[in-house]
Amino acid sequence: MALNVIAFIICYLLGSVSFSVVLAKALKGIDIRQHGSGNAGATNTLRVLGKGPAILVLALDVLKGIAAVWIGRWLGGDSAWVAALCGLAAIIGHNWPIYFRFRGGKGIATTIGVMATLIFFPALFAGIIAILSIVFTRYVSLGSLIFVLLTPIFFVFTNDIGPYFWASLIICAFAFWRHRTNIVKLAQGKENKLGSKGGTRV
Ligand code: G3P
Repeated sequence: MALNVIAFIICYLLGSVSFSVVLAKALKGIDIRQHGSGNAGATNTLRVLGKGPAILVLALDVLKGIAAVWIGRWLGGDSAWVAALCGLAAIIGHNWPIYFRFRGGKGIATTIGVMATLIFFPALFAGIIAILSIVFTRYVSLGSLIFVLLTPIFFVFTNDIGPYFWASLIICAFAFWRHRTNIVKLAQGKENKLGSKGGTRV
């Protein structure tokens, strides 16, 4: 039990490393949360810093999710619950980072890492549809929401309901909560498209 709690704490601390904040500070001396959408994530890094830094932030944030699940598997003795909750802890860290006054991102890149490691095929199929939706609509937020919604749906088609399903459902709820302003703007037709300079505040 103590080892499980240690694993959750490590994963929360890992998730709290906000790479977009660190990179924006290092490259331009700015706080990315004061620019664009104010979101500490890859999409806003693209707006504010450009393609190269955005790809780096995306990769590192995805890696956080992958690493968290593996830490859970390693310290949790193959318990599916521990692996799932470690992934969740990393996403919580990303969204509410202890090092950055609890103002983080919307958790999607880290969610991709967690879902792809826990439940690869449902995440892959959901990811393909999400990417297509972004290509056609140019709304990253819409694609993000489609991804988190479809992953648990595809999961129940192929698996029994268990820890991974419940984790993916909670992760979906977090993502919808973090995107609540984006959802309002999408409904109003005012959401920013990929490539535009504005953004939707958390
Ligand atoms: O993953 C975040 C994305 O879905 C939306 O980001 O900055 O456009 O609010 P942003």
